[in-house]
Amino acid sequence: MFITFEGPDGSGKTTQVQKIVHTLMEEGYDVVTTREPGGTEISNQVREVIMNLRNKNMFPRTEILLFCSARAQLVEEVIRPALLTGKIVISDRYSDSTLAYQGFGHGFDQQTLKQLLNFATGSLWPDLTFLLDISAEKGLQRRISNKVEWNRMDDYQLAFHQRVRDGYKSLVEESPDRWEVIDADQAENLIQDEIKRRIHIRLDKFLREISIGEKK
Ligand code: TMP
Repeated sequence: MFITFEGPDGSGKTTQVQKIVHTLMEEGYDVVTTREPGGTEISNQVREVIMNLRNKNMFPRTEILLFCSARAQLVEEVIRPALLTGKIVISDRYSDSTLAYQGFGHGFDQQTLKQLLNFATGSLWPDLTFLLDISAEKGLQRRISNKVEWNRMDDYQLAFHQRVRDGYKSLVEESPDRWEVIDADQAENLIQDEIKRRIHIRLDKFLREISIGEKK
């Protein structure tokens, strides 16, 4: 099963991903965890180019292709092999980030981006995606107060981040069955409890469907 976590910057995704991965592993699930952009040696090198504040004159088209190239490597090297051996893959961001940030944020056409994403990933989409929803203002404020290293993406204007947040909501409306939306403006432990509860419901359903498929 392929599970991704999405959300505006400062939504607390990374902490929540680490916690749920830890819980699932303790429960005996075979889990592989990744993050985007990054997750492989080559993808991490691409990440450095994307994030570096020195590269402020990067054009959005360049940015799109870099995110897609980092993802292509990650899918081939890590995600698909793990899924083929029956593991649970949990990724901190994936293709929906491109639709939200480069699509809704920069204003690129969703259909064109989907074609590019399908090319980059061999049309691999997650089975389940969590949206950790928080306003752009609160998210960026959190990044400042947590003294997280400020990167080139954080540096885009507030209006960009607001379009990203609204963009995520449109993506949820487009395919509601794939998404679980969690209010990220609450205590860390409450968010984790909610993720845990919903992930178990979805995992049970997924495993049930697989076993019915195998019996047929
Ligand atoms: P993060 O590692 O803190 O989540 O930062 C990744 C940044 O890159 C974040 O601002 C979201 C952005 N991003 C995109 O714009 N498009 C993408 O496809 C991905 C994966 C990330």
